[in-house]
Amino acid sequence: MSQEHGPLMLLHLGQVPTVVASSSEAAQEIMKTHDLLFASRPNSTILNTLLYGCKDIAFSPYGEYWRQLKSIVTSRLLSNAQVKSYQNIREEETSRMMGALEESHGSYIDVTPLFDSLAEKIMCRVAIGRAYDGARLTSILKMYLTMFTRFSVGTYFPWFWWVDRVSGLLGKAEEATKKLDEFLEDVIEEHVNKKRGDDEGQDIIDILLNTQKDKTTGFTFERDTIKAVIMDIFGGGIDNTSTNLEWVLSELIRNPRVMQNLQKEIAEIAQGRSKITEQDLEKMQYLKAVVKESLRMHPPVPLLLPRIVTQDVKLMGYDISSGTQVLVNVWKMGRDSTVWEEPEEFRPERFLTNSINYKGQHFEWLPFGAGRRTCPGVLFSVVIIELAIANIVYKFDLALPNGTKHEDLDMSEKYGITVHRKFPLVVSASPRF
Ligand code: HEM
Repeated sequence: MSQEHGPLMLLHLGQVPTVVASSSEAAQEIMKTHDLLFASRPNSTILNTLLYGCKDIAFSPYGEYWRQLKSIVTSRLLSNAQVKSYQNIREEETSRMMGALEESHGSYIDVTPLFDSLAEKIMCRVAIGRAYDGARLTSILKMYLTMFTRFSVGTYFPWFWWVDRVSGLLGKAEEATKKLDEFLEDVIEEHVNKKRGDDEGQDIIDILLNTQKDKTTGFTFERDTIKAVIMDIFGGGIDNTSTNLEWVLSELIRNPRVMQNLQKEIAEIAQGRSKITEQDLEKMQYLKAVVKESLRMHPPVPLLLPRIVTQDVKLMGYDISSGTQVLVNVWKMGRDSTVWEEPEEFRPERFLTNSINYKGQHFEWLPFGAGRRTCPGVLFSVVIIELAIANIVYKFDLALPNGTKHEDLDMSEKYGITVHRKFPLVVSASPRF
């Protein structure tokens, strides 16, 4: 549609006027020039049900509460130093995933459950201190996270919010939230009651409990806020990271030239060691370019999270009324042929010569958004992705089933807030040495 109607479209999604911006110029006006006016999120009964009245970061309306909470997240929970301190967890869980690949002994396996489990275990250990092995949390999370993708009549026809009650959608959302809430209550109680030594390292619940007691912040919050932040980390961290891993690996399999270049770079840096560590990643410029190129073609959240305009404003010369919902189409921007040479080609080399970084300053490439509402988990997820991919392609040669040629790998997408592969990525992994 953006091809046909241009970089700014007005759609009426039910009763909700929605502007879709699909060019870097439009994105820059939204997330830089007028960032403050576009810094809020739309609200709905279902989101309020799932997130304690939107007490989280991602869906909280713009205002003092959100500002204070986001500042805690970026300065205390996901700062550079804090992300570094989670290194052991990432390396241990990556080794565990590698073990599962080894145990497949070259038979065909679906890699998605491996990536889901890797991301889930890392997020759990970082956020709540343990991986909680076993199916209970996994099934609670599955039930809870799918609620964000269910169609809600009330979101698009606010007067008809009761339809979601009659259809049972709100009941299911309440049930899923209650189950996760009960689980998190137990985990928080464990944290409050146990006496942890300083040397045990702090998980996110510890940090939030300490912040709650810290009067110098001038910000008071209740336990619901702690639970809502943990829900954001599960919601924002697990699915997006796992999906990105699927797409990077798919593109590498489809592009043997790129795979060979990457294996060569990794082998030179690894010097025959048995695995890749996080220290090695800093030297792997081609790997970094591969991940960025994958995020260009397959941004896991292709329309970012919706924003809402809080004042009448002019956007690219058009009048946009206060209350309009705004989606930024980063999928289209990543494939814009006026910006990218041969945009349908997977060519990581373009990121070796441009200066695009993860700071959200290059408006033609925004897989994590930009401005006030940008993703605070960028550094954390990128290092998980780089470490997993580096280890997999260093240790294994991958092949598709039934002699499928690499160029025939189906790259269809499945519709959702997060865009997954439509078909599972099934490969055989043969040890390279
Ligand atoms: C590949 C992985 C990830 C991708 C592609 C991704 C993408 C995004 C995007 C597109 C947004 C919306 C930005 C905007 O509206 O401008 C966002 C917001 C957010 N993300 Fe991520 N994310 C990822 C990983 C994570 C991780 C690991 C965490 C937490 C540990 C996280 C937590 C959040 C939160 C809390 C927000 C809301 C920020 C706000 O509204 O102020 N994300 N993310």
